[in-house]
Amino acid sequence: MKNNIFLIGTHWGDEGKGKVVDVLSAEANACIRFQGGHNAGHTLVINDKKFILHLIPSGILRDNVKSVIGNGVVVSVDALIAEIEELQTNGIFLDNKLFISQNCHLILPTHIAIDQARERKLGKKSIGTTGRGIGPCYEDKTSRKGIRILDLKNETIFLKKLEDLMEYHNFILKNYFHEDVIDIKIVADDLLTKFKLISQYIIDTDEFINDLCMKGGVVFEGAQGTMLDIDHGTFPYVTSSNTTLSGLVSGTGVNMSLVNYGLGITKAYSTRVGHGPFPSELSNDIGDRIGKIGGEIGATTGRTRRCGWLDAKVLKKSIRLNNLSGIALTKIDVLDNFNEISICVDYGEIDYESFSVEDLEFIELPGWKTSTVGITNYNDLPKNAKLYIETIEGLINTPIDIISTGPARDEIIQKINILDV
Ligand code: IMP
Repeated sequence: MKNNIFLIGTHWGDEGKGKVVDVLSAEANACIRFQGGHNAGHTLVINDKKFILHLIPSGILRDNVKSVIGNGVVVSVDALIAEIEELQTNGIFLDNKLFISQNCHLILPTHIAIDQARERKLGKKSIGTTGRGIGPCYEDKTSRKGIRILDLKNETIFLKKLEDLMEYHNFILKNYFHEDVIDIKIVADDLLTKFKLISQYIIDTDEFINDLCMKGGVVFEGAQGTMLDIDHGTFPYVTSSNTTLSGLVSGTGVNMSLVNYGLGITKAYSTRVGHGPFPSELSNDIGDRIGKIGGEIGATTGRTRRCGWLDAKVLKKSIRLNNLSGIALTKIDVLDNFNEISICVDYGEIDYESFSVEDLEFIELPGWKTSTVGITNYNDLPKNAKLYIETIEGLINTPIDIISTGPARDEIIQKINILDV
């Protein structure tokens, strides 16, 4: 039987999970998302065509893979339908392939309005959210006011719940934020109409996911990254879900004894989008160069990502928190032309007012100044690229099992087949 595995970003998201999931899903049976919503953005390049997925797991592009949106995900019906239509237009059909938990909470237009109004009010102290309503939706889930997809099945119950919740949202919008209110009837009619377009995909996923795991070959796909975790990240500059292993358990109901391997996705350098501390950030020409070569522009919001050297201290923390078995190091080719490459190995406490950090320590290594693009065999990597990889392995005491050497599916080194080990 094939392994069941999970993938989690080890830093602040955008580590290149989409491509790794896509490659691994060639041999997988199912691909499952467990937290976040359409704040995520996975860019995949297939036959020179770029796909950006926000909500639907990356495995959807493979014919034999079942894609499941687990109960921990918050769902915007508009974003979901847009993605379904984009996939269908490109000849990717979803019958018996896409499954969405009926327990997912719905992101309402008022969640989005509150998210954006709150950010405006915070001004310079804003979180830099994606403005997709993620935080307010999770708030309503936790305070037991939220509306789940299954509520749409009964029109009377749905209308009552929606009215209660949106009256509360509109009160806050009007009286606290001094913003326009949103018409409840328009939202109700819209959601009831659109529900008909997605109802065929809605199921109770809990037992379904465990049954898939009994057959093996399941890839659980995290969104965002470990340092954006609501409990373990750089609070308050985080997202509103558990992006770490605990989110996988609560967001799917999986029996963890069925999951055999955890893969951390780590970019060869670090990036962060949005505000908040970033100890190894390079606010200089080198950071700009990394960003330009790496195309570090957010897939969801189009924002420029902040860039810095690999933060190995965060990587160690991620390995511990997520019980990772190995690492996939992505975008190594972006560092091909640098004379020196550093790794951030330690620092003191972070000041959350100024975001400054004391006692930053780096290891400096020589660059390899040769192209690594498209290399598929570890031994073909330049000597100094291997030195870089092996230095990281030594620091984290964990193997780097996969190395991505370009954006395309076949530009990858797989030292082991993690679905089979
Ligand atoms: P929210 O998830 O929209 O509430 O945003 C909270 C923080 O998480 C902000 O700093 C966002 O930039 C960041 N964030 C949310 N989703 C992603 C992602 O998929 N990649 C990277 N950062 C993200």
